[in-house]
Amino acid sequence: MDKVTIHTLKRLKAAGQKISMVTAYDATFARILDDAGADVLLVGDSLGMVVQGNDSTLPVTMDQMVYHCRAVSRGAKRAHVVGDMPFLSYQASVPEAVKNAGRLLAEGGVSSVKLEGGAEFGDTIEAIVRAGIPVMGHLGLTPQSVHRMGGFVVQGREEEQARAIYRDAQALERAGCYALVLEGMPKDLAREITASLRIPTIGIGAGIDCDGQVLVCYDLFGFNPDFKPKFVKRFADGYGTLRGAAEAFCAEVRAGTFPGDEHSFTSKTPLRLVPGSRPASAPTPTDEERTGPMYGVPV
Ligand code: KIV
Repeated sequence: MDKVTIHTLKRLKAAGQKISMVTAYDATFARILDDAGADVLLVGDSLGMVVQGNDSTLPVTMDQMVYHCRAVSRGAKRAHVVGDMPFLSYQASVPEAVKNAGRLLAEGGVSSVKLEGGAEFGDTIEAIVRAGIPVMGHLGLTPQSVHRMGGFVVQGREEEQARAIYRDAQALERAGCYALVLEGMPKDLAREITASLRIPTIGIGAGIDCDGQVLVCYDLFGFNPDFKPKFVKRFADGYGTLRGAAEAFCAEVRAGTFPGDEHSFTSKTPLRLVPGSRPASAPTPTDEERTGPMYGVPV
């Protein structure tokens, strides 16, 4: 199984094959998505909303991103793992941006970084790429600029703004980005940008003509029944399935039917620590009992 690289992604675009990208925030989800064949796992700063429960991505820190990147990198075997640069990790100065991008690779184990913004970040992107770090750009609805945009609002509906986004896309390719996320923009604008670039575009709320698509994994799995934006398709009723499983667990605990004998361990010798109690039998432990993972409790 060959690891997906930035060169694989360029080849997929050239061959007219679509790229699948999904966000991941921990090793368990990374493994599921990697096994499912996702080409790219994005450790998105969307974790500030879906994992941490904030109403924007702005509070996410570099240390938190490094922590989640490390977890996802451990869970992914084939997929290319991208680490998002959080708010204020690259905007203040170019040297700081290069250092922070480097941390996501050196400490977080990702293979590239993503940052939001247009031509104004050309110098920053060039410097990061010069340091040997591949950069994915992000245009259109850029969540870190939520206050400038006046909310999570589709961008580029008016011609002047559409032209500005189109120009930014050309500038990001020139600056050395290996791919671009196009988020929350009219599909015809995304189509024109995609056709004009050699690097792949990956859309979210940007229509079918992008070279690939990305969704936040919690949206794809349908974990939040209250979040129903137009661009999201739920591929599972994750909320219903997980809630049903948790309800079944609670019901079995209350009824005293879990754990059964098959989930319980036995002593090596018959035990009678409480005077008058019945000695337990001590059958030979099974292989599972000997080796089952116990989160730190020796078996
Ligand atoms: O942070 C994120 O998850 C993202 C995707 C929505 C593209 O930037």
